[in-house]
Formats: sequence, structure tokens, C-alpha cells
Amino acid sequence: MLVAPSILSADFGNLERDVKAICEGGCDLVHVDVMDGHFVPNLTIGPAVVGAVAKVASKPLDIHLMVENNTFFVDLFAPLQPKYISFHIEEEKHPHRLIQKIRALGISPALVLNPHTPPETVEFLLEDVDMVLLMSVNPGFGGQSFIPSVIEKAQKLKILTQKRNPNCLIEVDGGVNDENVTTLRDAGVDIVVAGSYVYNNPKGVKYAIESLKV
Ligand code: DX5
Ligand code: ZN
Repeated sequence: MLVAPSILSADFGNLERDVKAICEGGCDLVHVDVMDGHFVPNLTIGPAVVGAVAKVASKPLDIHLMVENNTFFVDLFAPLQPKYISFHIEEEKHPHRLIQKIRALGISPALVLNPHTPPETVEFLLEDVDMVLLMSVNPGFGGQSFIPSVIEKAQKLKILTQKRNPNCLIEVDGGVNDENVTTLRDAGVDIVVAGSYVYNNPKGVKYAIESLKV
């Protein structure tokens, strides 16, 4: 299992310390939650702060857009050259076009599905993306409870990715911890995002990351 800690649960007054902690703790990606106060009822960080994160991160960035006007935000964050930019399928009229745009910018395109969105929605986009992110909470906040139906969704998506694009990774985001990570792995998930479990872990960030590498 690859592990992408979400810096949404970091201490923003000590962001450099907390980004270095996950990178030195063995994470595979640094997950960055970008919220605009419109698509989701919360507002987070823009390119100035994410640029500062990129400077101190020794692992690639995984930027998760939770915004309206995806194309505008892709243009804002592209100069930072993250590994992934993912956008919500529910918010995009022309996902195929946006995928091609992200790819042309030298970034791996990824799609995000809210808890209610069936995996079949993205079947005919799978050959064009490098990752699909399944939300296991409603986007907007860290620290929410895991929605178990994502497990069956991951199993169904895995069948579709095997058929359409076996290189397409499956990521799950929200409420992930050491109790559900093995079930996610068995369902075919490749990457887990974890915010509160990693940053609020009484045994520390490094222990938390290692406990998710099942
Ligand atoms: C929620 C974000 C998640 C969130 C995960 O909208 O996409 O990345 O930070 O936090 P936890 O792991 O605490 O659910
Ligand atoms: Zn996220």
C-alpha cells in the first residue's frame, strides 16, 4: 500500500515541520486538499502556500481539487509540477478535455468520485487517467467517519481498471486508519490518503505511516 498523508490535518503554524515529518516518516506522496468554499463548504490553501509546501517536500505532491472551475485551478497549480492533479467528476462537464490538458502540462491526471457516484461513470475515461480517487467521506473536512460502501465500489472499479487500463491506480480518501486499510488493500486499493490518523496519532507520524503500509 502506498501512503499519502493529507496535510489538511497538519499544524498550519508549523507547516514546514509537519511536511518534513511525513516525508522523513516514509510517505509516498504529500496529499494537498484544495477547497474553494463553493464545491465544498470549506476553504483551504492556494498556490502561494502549496508552493511553500513543494519547496520543503521531498516527496511528490498529490493535489486533490475540490473546487468549481477546475480548469482555472489546474492553471494555478500546474507551475508547481505536482505528480497528480485530481478533479471531481461531479463538477466537470468536459472531463476528457481537462484530462488531456493536465497530461499536456506534464502532470498525471486523476479523477475523484464522491461517495454516491458509481464507478461506471468513469469507465470510458479510465484509459486516459493514471489514478481514480474514491472518496470514503463527504469532501470538505478531515476527521470524518469512513463510509464502508467504498469497499464494494473499489472492487467494482478494480474490475473496470483491469479491463480498461491495468496501470490506473485506485486511491481512497477519508476516514482511513489501521483498522480498515487491510480491507481496502484486499479490495484492490493501491494508495490511501490519511489525515487525522497520521497527524493525530499518539504514537507519532512515522509509526502511523508504517502501520498503513500493509
Ligand atoms: C476531505 C479530504 C481528505 C481529508 C482526509 O475532503 O479530501 O483528504 O483530509 O482526512 P481524514 O483522513 O482525517 O479523513
Ligand atoms: Zn483529499
